[in-house]
Amino acid sequence: MMLHIPEVLTNAEVAELRALIDAAPWVDGNETSGTQSALAKRNAQLPEGSPAAAQAGEAILDALERNPLFVAAALPQVVFPPLFNRYAGGEAFGLHVDNSIRQSRDGRTRIRSDLSATLFLTEPGDYDGGELVVEDTFGTHEVKLPAGDMILYPASSLHQVMPVSRGARVSSFFWIQSLVREDARRELLFQMDLAIQQLAGKVGAGAPELVSLTGAYHNLLRMWAET
Ligand code: NI
Repeated sequence: MMLHIPEVLTNAEVAELRALIDAAPWVDGNETSGTQSALAKRNAQLPEGSPAAAQAGEAILDALERNPLFVAAALPQVVFPPLFNRYAGGEAFGLHVDNSIRQSRDGRTRIRSDLSATLFLTEPGDYDGGELVVEDTFGTHEVKLPAGDMILYPASSLHQVMPVSRGARVSSFFWIQSLVREDARRELLFQMDLAIQQLAGKVGAGAPELVSLTGAYHNLLRMWAET
């Protein structure tokens, strides 16, 4: 499942974050790539674990915790410390699949990447190209979102970032290990959760049928969750 999560950050939060990271030193993006990815990747990146990346990453993790749509869809167990990249002057990232296991530079976080996320930090009108193109079983999807919006997609997907021909595209990207490893199960739980919330608005959260459905949701989650 691909999910667009709007307004993870407000415009003011994006501006603050950009001021912080734009002023920091950037390095060649291949620092974080596997060998195969490194062949396809041309961009710049904030050094992993640098003070600016750590501070900006914390702000994003806080915003994610407060975002009910993200929590319901990702069922996050561990979110990898967010990283930051910038594409300009024709830079791109060719077709690839993200590494299955990710370890942070300090060795403190090691996750299985179930979900990949890109949080856009540049308004789409400020650059040309730079679409995130994701291939899934339903075909090819081009994603270019307003600053502050995020796309969540299965980390198993083939994807690429198209060349940026004007301006610069700055984003945060990271991975999530979910409590529910399988995409199809996670999607089913998400649909059920959304339907329960919508029903609660119509019939009241205390309706016995709704209590029963909510119980079924939790019992499925209990059955499938790995903690
Ligand atoms: Ni990738």
